Amino acid sequence: MSPLDPAAVAALYDRHGAKQDGAGWYEDPPLRRLMQHLALADAGAVLELGAGTGRFAEWLLDALPPTATYTAVDLSGEMCRLARARLERFGARITVRHAAADAIEPPDGAFDRTVSAYMFDIWSEDVIRDTLDGIHRWLRPGGVLGLVSLTEGESWLGRAVSSTWAAVHRRKPEWVGGCRPLKQAPLLDETRWTITHRSVVRAWGIPSEVLVARRR
Ligand SMILES: C[S@@+](CC[C@H](N)C(=O)[O-])C[C@H]1O[C@@H](n2cnc3c(N)ncnc32)[C@H](O)[C@@H]1O
Repeated sequence: MSPLDPAAVAALYDRHGAKQDGAGWYEDPPLRRLMQHLALADAGAVLELGAGTGRFAEWLLDALPPTATYTAVDLSGEMCRLARARLERFGARITVRHAAADAIEPPDGAFDRTVSAYMFDIWSEDVIRDTLDGIHRWLRPGGVLGLVSLTEGESWLGRAVSSTWAAVHRRKPEWVGGCRPLKQAPLLDETRWTITHRSVVRAWGIPSEVLVARRR
């Protein structure tokens, strides 16, 4: 279920642009939780799908070894422009690709970490599963996948907020960036992934699921 097609999502984020950084009030606590589970000190090549303005990339790059490379992929040309400008200081370690996450074809095993925050919650479960197939190929065995998305609350407040969000998404998906509460864990095929961390982090009432899995 995605009420917006890729062209509409790209146009939405081309218009939204730097305003995405204003979502830090509910995104930052779950993103900080994700950082704790990525073992970045041992990483060599990181892929981020739906990287937006490059704000999380900056956190990642500041924590990565100085030799590690980072590749951002985003559907929105404006987001790619903002990410390139923000990450310029990291020089040749950075690649920013203007493309859909399920349209890239890096070599098998090219990355040892893949992350994506608040992108899967835009797309249908079929698109998410296709994208996960690609990620599984691009990660080397033992590589780490880290995901964050809006999710359904586990407390009464979290459930009230997520069901209100879902109702807005059904009527006006563009008001909420095309994102709706999603349960990511059931979408990972357990014959291909081992979940090493799952938590729901609620920031100012908004619940996000943090999911980390190791590629088998
Ligand atoms: C809600 S924003 C999140 C941005 C950033 N990850 C963050 O947490 O601030 C979603 C981002 O994913 C991008 N995006 C959506 N669908 C995509 C796709 N299929 N492939 C690549 N990027 C996509 C959008 O252009 C946008 O920049």
